[in-house]
Amino acid sequence: MLILGIETSCDETSAAVYESSSAESGCLRSNVVASQVDLHAAFGGVVPELSARAHVERLPVVVSESLRLAGLSFSDLDSIAVTARPGLLSALLCGISFAKGLSLALDRPLYAVDHVKAHVAAAFLEFPSASLVESSARPINPGDLPVLALVASGGHTLMARQTSPLDFQLLGTTRDDAVGEAFDKVGQLLGLPFPGGPHVERAAASGDPSAFSFPVGIIRGAPLDFSFSGLKTAVLYALAKMPARERRRRTVDVAASFQRAAIRALSERAVTAVRETGIRSVVLCGGVAANRTLRQTLSSDLAAVGARLFVPPAVFCGDTGAQVAVYGSFLAAAGCPPVQDVDASTTSELFE
Ligand code: KG4
Ligand code: ZN
Repeated sequence: MLILGIETSCDETSAAVYESSSAESGCLRSNVVASQVDLHAAFGGVVPELSARAHVERLPVVVSESLRLAGLSFSDLDSIAVTARPGLLSALLCGISFAKGLSLALDRPLYAVDHVKAHVAAAFLEFPSASLVESSARPINPGDLPVLALVASGGHTLMARQTSPLDFQLLGTTRDDAVGEAFDKVGQLLGLPFPGGPHVERAAASGDPSAFSFPVGIIRGAPLDFSFSGLKTAVLYALAKMPARERRRRTVDVAASFQRAAIRALSERAVTAVRETGIRSVVLCGGVAANRTLRQTLSSDLAAVGARLFVPPAVFCGDTGAQVAVYGSFLAAAGCPPVQDVDASTTSELFE
């Protein structure tokens, strides 16, 4: 079955074609991502109105390109999947309207995909082994389930138990900021370009992670919940105490110390979840999962408790049509009814 995945939940316009061969396996035929980073950089964050306009302009090109790269035409498609939630409403509606139009014009079923669940689905994608980091020698397959899914993105930070490609139970979530949001805010405080995450990682590579002792947020009575606002504020106060020249000189140390605390917060929850549930496989996904130090730290911390880490290649950690197409193929394979009328929502199904 050939399925087109469309993603417009935030600031990437993306489309991909996935060919499923059985219920949970298949091959990615194409994946095209048009990033809007340059568009939002001057504002230091995503501007929803600009994002929506760019999606409208770019979607026809991105979708056509995904078909061209797959060597297909519209009529070859068997179904269409689109991110319906969560995300920026104006951005989601662009992808949804486009996908609805295609579904009607081609008379093909349309599947509404949850963005957070789709991030986890990226770990099911099969890739040539050369593109995988040492911590993930192969993609996850249904035989590995149940797994613990640790989603670390700009909008979400949560831990869930995944019992089938479609079934998740939420174990813990953030009480305030998402970890990616904390990376971005710290990047902004350090005067680094938008989005802060990859730039903080780059700065941290030459800094001393023990230069500052930043707090790891703990929620009493909820060991799998996260909190990143205290960490962010601690960075703000540490910087406020420094004269401008010292601040510049110590940017790398602040970045490294912040990154260490943020990674500890994720890793400690993953180890606790392994101990509490007895589940020995953890999937790390979402934009922040591209962070190499996080991948390495989590991999070794999990190995120490007898658990293994699955993580998609870095290019499939961010927002892609690929994850939408894969999750859509899971919905189709499970016999889930296609939707006639897709509604956009700002909340993930995981919170219902
Ligand atoms: O999953 P994603 O692409 O979009 C959302 O669903 O939110 O995640 C984007 C987040 C941003 O906060 C970005 O700064 C962060 O992922 N990110 C990183 C890295 N690459 C992207 N954070 C830390 N290190 C990275 N290398
Ligand atoms: Zn995302």
